[in-house]
Amino acid sequence: MIVPSTIPVLPTMTPQIKMSDEEFRLLRAYIYEQTGIYFQDSKKYLLEGRLGKRLQLLNMKSFNEYLQFVRFGSRRSEEMKSFYDTITINETFFFRNEPQFDAFEKTMVPEIVNSKRGTGRAKIRIWSAASSSGEEAYTLGMIYLEKLKPRYPGLEIEIVGTDINSTVVATAKSGLYREYSIRNMPKAYLDKYFIAQDGRYQVCDEVRRLARFESTNLYDRTRMRQMSAFDVVFCCNVLIYFDTKSKIQVVGDLYNSLNSGGHLFIGYAESLHGISTAFKLISFPKTVAYKKE
Ligand SMILES: C[S@@+](CC[C@H](N)C(=O)[O-])C[C@H]1O[C@@H](n2cnc3c(N)ncnc32)[C@H](O)[C@@H]1O
Repeated sequence: MIVPSTIPVLPTMTPQIKMSDEEFRLLRAYIYEQTGIYFQDSKKYLLEGRLGKRLQLLNMKSFNEYLQFVRFGSRRSEEMKSFYDTITINETFFFRNEPQFDAFEKTMVPEIVNSKRGTGRAKIRIWSAASSSGEEAYTLGMIYLEKLKPRYPGLEIEIVGTDINSTVVATAKSGLYREYSIRNMPKAYLDKYFIAQDGRYQVCDEVRRLARFESTNLYDRTRMRQMSAFDVVFCCNVLIYFDTKSKIQVVGDLYNSLNSGGHLFIGYAESLHGISTAFKLISFPKTVAYKKE
């Protein structure tokens, strides 16, 4: 018999820390209390996998230990940032929902310009709520430069992007994107408003100047009260993570953040049915918006 001279060493893998059902319920309740995000039972694996990596980094032995740390630890406020970064899903890309951008450019802006004529306020304020890494906000900036400014030379625009995840907010501020983000972008926009840099794409300063970004939790009522006087709010593909109660709270606060006559856009797969009757539903080609009258 030939005996191998060396015994192969198997790669050591840190075993995945198991989340008990009780730990899942406690973590879910805490996440909900802080963010309005509700993890269904079927999403336990997601929390276990994502937070498990965080636990390993922090050298913790159980999810219960982590929960105590994030609730009461002396470094609680720093950990909350990583906690939010770990539990959120940040999928987005430029020109994600084109019918919404068309409705904004072709119908809403002309209406707003008309209603503001004579008020001395030819400025449109837009909020990209749950902006993730900023693609939606910068898409609006490019549409302004490309389509609106030539039509209304005196028109100004202010775009505010906010998200609970501070890492994506930092990406939004940097304006530097990977191929994935630009996959739906018309080439003419890419050529005109981006600078290619080692396989990445930098939004040009002219567009960057139009948008600013902040970390904001849509479930924080004090913070939400500070968000006001917007003409259009895009709050897309985030309500799906909330339950009915947190949707009602957030949508009520978004309503208050709008000027009268202002519009709210939500995601393609989302609806305000059973959530709010305060808005008037307005139909546009291939999309709808919710108007505060
Ligand atoms: C799927 S992305 C949608 C991004 C963009 N609005 C779009 O439609 O492409 C959802 C974003 O919502 C953010 N989010 C989740 N809960 C939030 C909360 N309570 N407050 C603010 N942002 C939140 C996440 O961090 C994530 O970036």
